[in-house]
Amino acid sequence: MTEMKPVTEATAVKAPVLPDAQTVTDVKHWTESLFSFRVTRPASLRFRSGEFVMIGLLGDNGKPLLRAYSIASPSWDEELEFYSIKVQDGPLTSKLQHIKPGDQIILRPKPVGTLVHDALLPGKRLWFFATGTGFAPFASLLREPQTYEDYDEVIITHTCREVAELEYGKQLIENIRQDELLTELIGEGFADKIRYYPTTTREQSPKMGRITNLLKDGTVFADLGIEGGIKPETDRAMVCGSLAFNLDIKEILEEFGLREGANSEPKEFVIEKAFVG
Ligand SMILES: Cc1cc2nc3c(=O)[nH]c(=O)nc-3n(C[C@H](O)[C@H](O)[C@H](O)COP(=O)(O)OP(=O)(O)OC[C@H]3O[C@@H](n4cnc5c(N)ncnc54)[C@H](O)[C@@H]3O)c2cc1C
Ligand SMILES: NC(=O)c1ccc[n+]([C@@H]2O[C@H](COP(=O)([O-])OP(=O)(O)OC[C@H]3O[C@@H](n4cnc5c(N)ncnc54)[C@H](OP(=O)(O)O)[C@@H]3O)[C@@H](O)[C@H]2O)c1
Repeated sequence: MTEMKPVTEATAVKAPVLPDAQTVTDVKHWTESLFSFRVTRPASLRFRSGEFVMIGLLGDNGKPLLRAYSIASPSWDEELEFYSIKVQDGPLTSKLQHIKPGDQIILRPKPVGTLVHDALLPGKRLWFFATGTGFAPFASLLREPQTYEDYDEVIITHTCREVAELEYGKQLIENIRQDELLTELIGEGFADKIRYYPTTTREQSPKMGRITNLLKDGTVFADLGIEGGIKPETDRAMVCGSLAFNLDIKEILEEFGLREGANSEPKEFVIEKAFVG
């Protein structure tokens, strides 16, 4: 039998205390490479829908291992939601993908970012262009009342390789359409302004192809019944994807006469990277 010893201050194993710790409340795995999770929100954290923060875990060396993450929940939500890739040999996500409710993560409460309403001049139609986890900031903005107060129409395009990679966004939009709290916050019929345009590039789906090609050949406008394409007088856009995607969309938007804005200088479109590399 193992000898029992009283637990004293000296013998007790102390749970490691994370700096800026928040508790995981929910985790959902969508595919082998995608998951979403919710954590408690620090009482002092204020952010604008569309912004990102640094989150992470303690690394093996005992130091925080942090990465930029868009907050996928809206600014009014009492918790914080994130939508994440699982990079199998990624320093952070090889570990983060195993979190469970009750676990703690580190969250630095300093939100920043350009995908915010303040960085755009007033307009009538708002485009969200996302690939992969680039959907995350739009998951926030689609649940933000100001999006519907400021615009008559909100078009969200999401391009992924495979159909299953669209599921988080698809379900989120279905839930928005039925959400009573959002209807109370924003007003009856607000969700009729949303136009969802999902496309895949490597697996058969109702709409195949890169959104960039579908914009260039006019398919998007024909499908959505938009005459004359994107116009600088009425259309505003937010873009979030890989660097290559962002550059390609930027070129297309500039050809339509839109200019890139920033927090300090609002214009017709804004861009943020969904990841580096
Ligand atoms: C402003 C900003 C916001 C971000 N928001 C999110 C977010 O909301 N959700 C999220 O999952 N990631 C987001 N990222 C990426 C995130 O910061 C990390 O890179 C990611 O969590 C992987 O971390 P890692 O340490 O496991 O691997 P890393 O060493 O950071 O990345 C390894 C490689 O994996 C690939 N990769 C990394 N992230 C992604 C991704 N999201 N999609 C596809 N390939 C990727 C890249 O090729 C990268 O070089 C964001 C990045 C930036 C700059
Ligand atoms: N998701 C996966 O199944 C998978 C599998 C193996 C490796 N990876 C690696 O994981 C990383 C991220 O993969 P990901 O699929 O999340 O992101 P991604 O490679 O950026 O692709 C996401 C979607 O955006 C499209 N896209 C990419 N560049 C574009 C551009 N310049 N213009 C228009 N559309 C563009 C892709 O179309 P295309 O398919 O035409 O490129 C794809 O449908 C990459 O480094 C990738 O090599 C991912």
